[in-house]
Amino acid sequence: MPTDDRERPVTILDFDAWKKQGRKISVLTAYDHPTARWFDAAGVDCLLVGDSLGTTVQGRETTLGVTLDQIVYHAEMVARAARRAFVVADLPFLSYQASRAQAIRSAGRILKETRCQAVKLEGGRRTAATIRAVVDAEIPVMGHVGLTPQSVRKFGGYKVQREADVIRADAQAVVEAGAFAMVLECVPASLAATITAEVPIPTIGIGAGADCDGQVLVVHDMLGLLEGFRPKFARRYSELGDAMKQAAGRYVEDVRSGDFPGESESFR
Ligand code: KIV
Repeated sequence: MPTDDRERPVTILDFDAWKKQGRKISVLTAYDHPTARWFDAAGVDCLLVGDSLGTTVQGRETTLGVTLDQIVYHAEMVARAARRAFVVADLPFLSYQASRAQAIRSAGRILKETRCQAVKLEGGRRTAATIRAVVDAEIPVMGHVGLTPQSVRKFGGYKVQREADVIRADAQAVVEAGAFAMVLECVPASLAATITAEVPIPTIGIGAGADCDGQVLVVHDMLGLLEGFRPKFARRYSELGDAMKQAAGRYVEDVRSGDFPGESESFR
């Protein structure tokens, strides 16, 4: 029986146990080895190699341009860094929509070429058969309903999703397809609470209020690494962007003034 042991690696069984125990689940995105190492050491339960790497690391407007090769590249670094955290990688846009065979091959690549334990894919009823096919290939799947960023062109932007019946039906479809957990993104808190009470698998919220079984934040949002837009739901735990700018500014001054490198930073 899994326990809440911070030293033991998290397994898929813990998600089920934590839901039953009411023990909240912490998830953060990570895209590189050192970030994953720090988050793992801090006790984060699950690291998500999200296709949000398109809008964070790559500086794109959407996640649509992210490729499976890029996810595999980042997921391999992150999963190798994780000693305790469970690591999930996103299936990017058009790596699973074409056919179930494509989905199994894409998800299989992630498990074969990285040490990730699961994949995440977006959609409810429309992707339920795909989730089932991937799960039947022995690959654990985390679902993702509500605001699904790969549907941004269909949604006409990143908007809070309020169609309660649609989202509840999508959540049920994800459960019936065999997913072990699901992300609920940008839905009203009351709807997320209802779904969390209705489904037997953990809900991981982002912009979905406090009653989800867990929470996920994008690393660049929570550490203050992006300029401009601040999502309402993203609490900032640090201002690393400002800290980086100040550090680089001091370095520029030191180089120009000749203060760097000093004696102790030089070889004799
Ligand atoms: O890509 C991602 O980082 C995600 C989270 C926002 C849940 O899907």
